[in-house]
Amino acid sequence: MKEMILAAKIEVYQKEELSEAYKLLLDTAKKASDSAYAPYSHFKVGCAVRLKSGRIVTGNNQENAAYTAGLCAERVAIHQATACFPDDPIESLALIAQMDGQWTKEVCTPCGECRQVMKEVEFRTLHPITMLLANATEIYKISGIDTLLPLGFNGSALSK
Ligand code: THU
Repeated sequence: MKEMILAAKIEVYQKEELSEAYKLLLDTAKKASDSAYAPYSHFKVGCAVRLKSGRIVTGNNQENAAYTAGLCAERVAIHQATACFPDDPIESLALIAQMDGQWTKEVCTPCGECRQVMKEVEFRTLHPITMLLANATEIYKISGIDTLLPLGFNGSALSK
């Protein structure tokens, strides 16, 4: 028997410690959360992705009375970015959520399906995504989806 231990490196920042570009990305995600459509969960998520060109694309969660038809903020932003700018890789992503007008106590972390979508984007563009997962006071900075989705599945498993 052999044992493998997978380690996760997460840097924890205060907002003042972020670069100006990351502060802007986080502020843009915050703004995007205001327009989330979340009448069922009241959990309003904002996501902003920054592309290699510097362009920022935003998304927020879009819920539905038929719950499974809804979509998370990350996938709204990511699919919008790759649909409109397929040749401009996503370099970073900021994520934050509010409930009843307050930023959540815990930093907002992506669900499993969104992690899988990020895995596909990294595979497609050969570009790791830096994630900024935030609450009101702290930002977890994570470089590359493998930290959040260890041993993840991607298209390389399907190639002959
Ligand atoms: N949600 C997101 O948009 N992103 C996440 O990272 C976590 C969950 C949404 C889905 C649903 O509209 C609401 O938050 C509650 O799960």
